[in-house]
Amino acid sequence: MNYRDHYAQFLASPEKFWADQADRIAWFESPQKILSQNQRGHYRWFEGGKLNTCYLCTDYHIENGRGEQVALIYDSPVTGNVKKLTYTELRDQTALFAGVLAGLGVTKGDRVIIYMPMVPEAVIAMLACARLGAIHSVVFGGFASHELAIRIDDAQPKVVVSASCGIEINRKIPYKPLLDEAIKLAKYKPEHCVILNRPELEVENMTNRDHDWVQAIRHATAADFVPVDATDPLYILYTSGTTGLPKGIVRDNGGHAVALKYSMDAIYNTKPGEVYWAASDVGWVVGHSYIVYAPLLTGCTTILFEGKPVKTPDAGKFWHVIAEHKVKTFFTAPTAFRAIRKEDPQGKLKDDYDISSLRCLFLAGERTDPPTLNWLQDLLKIPVIDHWWQTETGWPMVANMMGVEELPVKAGSASVPVCGYDVRVLDPGGKEVGPGEEGQIVVKLPLPPGCLPSLYNDDDRFEKSYLARFPGYYTSGDGGYRDEEGFVFIMGRTDDVINVAGHRLSTGEMEELLTLHDAVAECAVIGVSDVLRGQVPVGLVVLKDGVDMEEQKLIGELIAIVKEKIGAFAYLRKIMIVERLPKTRSGKILRNVMRKIADGQEYTTPSTIDDPATLNEISGILNK
Ligand code: COA
Ligand code: AMP
Repeated sequence: MNYRDHYAQFLASPEKFWADQADRIAWFESPQKILSQNQRGHYRWFEGGKLNTCYLCTDYHIENGRGEQVALIYDSPVTGNVKKLTYTELRDQTALFAGVLAGLGVTKGDRVIIYMPMVPEAVIAMLACARLGAIHSVVFGGFASHELAIRIDDAQPKVVVSASCGIEINRKIPYKPLLDEAIKLAKYKPEHCVILNRPELEVENMTNRDHDWVQAIRHATAADFVPVDATDPLYILYTSGTTGLPKGIVRDNGGHAVALKYSMDAIYNTKPGEVYWAASDVGWVVGHSYIVYAPLLTGCTTILFEGKPVKTPDAGKFWHVIAEHKVKTFFTAPTAFRAIRKEDPQGKLKDDYDISSLRCLFLAGERTDPPTLNWLQDLLKIPVIDHWWQTETGWPMVANMMGVEELPVKAGSASVPVCGYDVRVLDPGGKEVGPGEEGQIVVKLPLPPGCLPSLYNDDDRFEKSYLARFPGYYTSGDGGYRDEEGFVFIMGRTDDVINVAGHRLSTGEMEELLTLHDAVAECAVIGVSDVLRGQVPVGLVVLKDGVDMEEQKLIGELIAIVKEKIGAFAYLRKIMIVERLPKTRSGKILRNVMRKIADGQEYTTPSTIDDPATLNEISGILNK
């Protein structure tokens, strides 16, 4: 079938379309309703259906003859380990760890925070939660204590699962002090922590609250899977919003399983038994969906890579992993290839490896810039597919659906709406704009299965953030346009969210943190284009009257606050002290105008500007 017909089938009857897809997973009890609405009018998929996501990812495959197939390859250049787990081994280890959690009192609906590096135990912990019907919340290992504490307070986990350390190239990052500090900072105190002691750095100060992973497993009894409702939450994943308080994106069990299985087939064209690699981190949505759940739901072999595109040990590592494990489908962020290209401009290191297994490369997390796209196309001579999605949706909204029909690639476009998403472009008044005209990218409700049903414990914020702006539509927060042929071009966020090396960050949060410093009267943080990272944050700070401090010392302290509170990956490295910030007469800081000036783009001075001289002043500073 071609894309147009497949998409028309979905548009003609979304319920019929998703009922057919739902038939492809092994429910314990079939859904009674395909689509319904709760009392607040929020859409729900597959009400009445009963399933278990861990069962579908492990036991189901064992029952269907895949027990001896490798489910997970752990490739860790930073420790020198490569380990393989079959589906049977993965199921057995997961069931045992589920037994550990159950022994600590975790039952259906309880929350468990997982703060771990890229080790198999992180995947096992996620699946173990799913097995019990508990709700996991994975926190990216690069986050500092302050961020972890915010998530502990919001999710109120019974248990936190962590490790002794992460490894950044050749630097050990001790996690235990970060975890202990987070628990100290949090108002809510989890009852138990399970710590994986890695040989690279053993924890010495275990407290009464802490349990050693290996010891705990030794005394545990394997736990069976617990059937849950399709609408029961599988996980919460916090993501940056426009304020310091992250949004707890909720994912349900039923819609998630159906949508991810469909996506593996229809978008990634990846079949059971094939090797699929997403080089991301389990702490991000790409890691949740395409390192863990989608490949395992499909019966693929997934790769968990604990390394970097460069320096572990060199810019040929990606090619090495692809060759060694015969990867068929590869997914990463464009920034990773910009890093590789910087070190190996001709892509010569690829010639050392046989990567003929690779059929398709998918890129997301940020727009694929045409130079990187062209470089990859010339080098690999396979389809290079940019596709667009977000933590909120959990799977792609706009993509070249390689399992349906390969459409021509247009540089700068993420291709066409994926079946399930009725994508529109609206002007500020909510009217659809014509081809080529930029506007807000929205999706007509209902969103398909797998997308967020709400925010954790916060229906009001869910409505305010995503549904209120354009009634009847989900507001993505991205701007862009469609061309005459319906190809979608995503041009960037229209709010205060930025993308730094594929990591989503809130400039609003950074501003809140900078103003914690006694010397700061007010500030603005803007995302400025960067050749390697896509965007980097730049801070403009106005000092309180009478502050007399050496400028470099002050800047150092401000940079340290953000690094200490969010994490080093937030990458706020440049701060400028200014006399005043350009504003509108109503006091709104002209962040967007400053960003355009810094990027050398054309801009219009708003008619509501308070003092044009300030903008000129700032323009001079930013252009320096
Ligand atoms: N734990 C602790 N610290 C971390 C971390 C983690 N998981 N991830 C990053 N950091 C730290 C780094 O060590 C570095 O610290 P430093 O400045 O003190 O040395 C800082 O955060 C910045 O890291 P990063 O932005 O990753 O810069 P880099 O120069 O180390 O690497 C890239 C640049 C482009 C190679 C890297 O960012 C990358 O691989 N990006 C792809 C991201 C990705 O896959 N995103 C998922 C979306 S699909
Ligand atoms: P995250 O929730 O961390 O996955 O980040 C989602 C945001 O990243 C989106 O709202 C976009 O701003 C950006 N993004 C992700 N993929 C793409 C893409 N292919 N093209 C353009 N922007 C993208």
